Amino acid sequence: MISNVANKISKVFRGTIIHSLEINNVEILQNAALGVGESGSIVFLKRDVADDQVFGEIAKEYSFTDSQVVNLGKKFLIPGFIDTHAHAPQYHNAGTGTDLPLLKWLEKYTFPVESKFRELKFARDVYTKVVDRMLKNGTTTCCYFATIHLDATLLLADIVGERGQRAFIGKVCMDRNSPDHYVETTEQSIQSTKQYIEELNKRGNPLVQPIITPRFAPTCTDHLLKELGVIAKDKGTMIQSHISENIDEVAWVKSIFPELKSYTDVYKHFDLLNKKTIMAHAIHLSDEELDTFEKCEAGISHCPVSNFTLGSGAMDVRKVLRKNIKLGLGTDISGGYSSSILTVIKDSLKCSNSIFFHDKSHTPLSYEEAFYLATVGGSKVVELSDRIGNFLPGKEFDAQVIDPFSANSPFDVFEADTTHDIFQKFIFNGDDRNVDSVYVKGRKVI
Ligand code: GUN
Ligand code: FE
Repeated sequence: MISNVANKISKVFRGTIIHSLEINNVEILQNAALGVGESGSIVFLKRDVADDQVFGEIAKEYSFTDSQVVNLGKKFLIPGFIDTHAHAPQYHNAGTGTDLPLLKWLEKYTFPVESKFRELKFARDVYTKVVDRMLKNGTTTCCYFATIHLDATLLLADIVGERGQRAFIGKVCMDRNSPDHYVETTEQSIQSTKQYIEELNKRGNPLVQPIITPRFAPTCTDHLLKELGVIAKDKGTMIQSHISENIDEVAWVKSIFPELKSYTDVYKHFDLLNKKTIMAHAIHLSDEELDTFEKCEAGISHCPVSNFTLGSGAMDVRKVLRKNIKLGLGTDISGGYSSSILTVIKDSLKCSNSIFFHDKSHTPLSYEEAFYLATVGGSKVVELSDRIGNFLPGKEFDAQVIDPFSANSPFDVFEADTTHDIFQKFIFNGDDRNVDSVYVKGRKVI
């Protein structure tokens, strides 16, 4: 009998449960039973148990009644997706402005829309819609860039908190090489970052954490980068930025920081590259830079939808995985046009295949591996692998109930299909119409 009140069962899911324990293996548990405690944690996960065991000895051991058992039937449970890189304000533009490379795209489309977030009414509309859209897509954890505006960034945190998503939210810092209508002074950037962390911590929601967010090296002075490194260390916060996304950007960084060895070295020099760092893109890194990532234990967010759309390049996942660098997937809304991690999974496969076209020694990524990156991989990047990513007991229950037979499902299931086939069909052909419900730390949010 479980006596711990925190572990008192609130719900038991009964049926098919799918998750990853290792990168090359999706575990499909049939006739499983998963108990969620009132604290939102996973209390037990039983593989292949008969009905009389669930309603008999297991019910007795964990003190739950028949009415607490949710029968999944033909639906199945998978972990919530983790989006390790997204720009919440850019959701306004998602699916537009797809005709320019990075630096021109920033100037023409991105900075103008982000500057509008000084108006809270505009911010509320976009932020409400992006968080709702992310949750409908089964994204239970998201690393958001907001804008330079303190008020609007706190508003995003409040909306995320109300909706119940788990998130890292950054006030963007940029004090040079930015348009006059969208730039801060160095002092403003430092002060509002400190104030942001203070205000967010006062809200006391453990699911919503601040993250230090220099936009990228070219838009930040040495002084700002140095101070952000100090704040991150003092407060123990995560750090997110962009690195080596586009060839012109890499050359630009070289010209701005001629005394430093590489783009990676810039972040390292300012104490912004450590195990709490998430760097988006990382397409054009040298082997030496990848070694530095490995040594510093910094993570990478792979954003193939964005990289194909802006024509940035194809990141070699094998090089990253071979070095044991933490790797997750990111939508990079709106460099990426889709807010769905399922789209990112598919493009990560195409990206790897595109490398294989001209390098036969490259082993293409499998969809099982991509699913791992979208769940467990992401949990490692956000330094929460002890809490989320799969359904091991003791972790928090962040999950999606998938219905392959939903009324308007975009794919069909045939009699001969195995559970493995149906899962694969969902990964390749499914979308939010198959997402029946979503849970974050045991709370139903969709
Ligand atoms: N590099 C600097 N800012 C951005 C941004 O907003 N999106 C992308 N994709 N890359 C960037
Ligand atoms: Fe980005």
